Amino acid sequence: MCLIRYFYVPNLPQTPVVKQSDNKSVRCISMDKGVRAFVWKGDYLLLLEQRDLPHRETWLELRNHKEVAKAIRDMSVRGAPAIGCVAAYGFVLGVREGYEPQEVYEELKNTRPTAFNLFWALDRMMEALKSGRDLEREAIQIEEEDFSANLSMGNLGSQLIPHGAKVLTHCNTGALATAGWGTALGVIRSAHKEGKEISVWVDETRPYLQGARLTAWELLKEGIPHSIITDSTAGYLIGRGMVDLVIVGADRITAKGDVANKIGTYTLSVLCKEHGVPFYVAAPSSTFDLSIESGGEIPIEERSAREVKAFGKCEVAPEDSPATHIAFDITPAENITAIITEKGIVRPVCKESILKLLS
Ligand code: MRU
Repeated sequence: MCLIRYFYVPNLPQTPVVKQSDNKSVRCISMDKGVRAFVWKGDYLLLLEQRDLPHRETWLELRNHKEVAKAIRDMSVRGAPAIGCVAAYGFVLGVREGYEPQEVYEELKNTRPTAFNLFWALDRMMEALKSGRDLEREAIQIEEEDFSANLSMGNLGSQLIPHGAKVLTHCNTGALATAGWGTALGVIRSAHKEGKEISVWVDETRPYLQGARLTAWELLKEGIPHSIITDSTAGYLIGRGMVDLVIVGADRITAKGDVANKIGTYTLSVLCKEHGVPFYVAAPSSTFDLSIESGGEIPIEERSAREVKAFGKCEVAPEDSPATHIAFDITPAENITAIITEKGIVRPVCKESILKLLS
């Protein structure tokens, strides 16, 4: 485990600052072999600006919790587990700055409403503070635990991937969305490392294009065969037997196994049910919100209509047309074949099996 970890730690920035923007130092570096979304430097956080990918690898230096909150809100960093880790470091910075801990907690918490890992990590930091534990150490531990959970999910989940499988995935659930390796993409990565000769259909994932920009970038770096498709191509491929399984991540999972994930996930689950294709979810235990029963209770983020009316930076819709940007949807437990966690595989997906595994 340690060896893999070192293999994936990137060469840290040694090149000089190449530009300044918004009063932040911005560096461009080569990532070499590994992909990391963020690197804690002891008194600041280095964050890979995901909005610049795949064309530019830019690192932001975040030195206070307000910058961290902004980076989460603006989706410079995204993906539920990565958001949780980064928020924990933001909490460390805010408390060190002398802000009231509750104020820091609220500011970081009010960035994105759906990803449960954010609330889980912040609650854990608050609890650490109250019990007098070292905050920096706690944040590092949250990061370490996420990384090793992903490796465990990779090992467990790859057992579900047959040799030569054609796998379809949605959004980005890789190293960029986590502390490293990834959840659903981590399972794909593990299966590839085991020599299973899989290939991946990558949903572009409108409107933010996490699939086309980020998942494709990660798969390319790993040398995993893949092809980017428009989101609406999935039905054609699944209907014609060109997909052996679908695997996605999760932003929040309820006690009975309903899953909130990137908009379009529910559609894929219905297609899989119709055509008898296995539909898997991979997520660490920190994504489970056992305080709620059903998916209807999960707050669903709505983002700016502007993001729907543009393709990247290019405006494509009439300026005066309204648009709706619902960022997540709910997949009911009954559409899910199994949920892969670091503690084991939940199958069938129901309250009983979830509580048995997690409690
Ligand atoms: O809006 P995003 O990019 O933060 O959404 C990310 C997802 O929906 C991922 O599938 C989810 O967070 C799991 S990431 C391991």
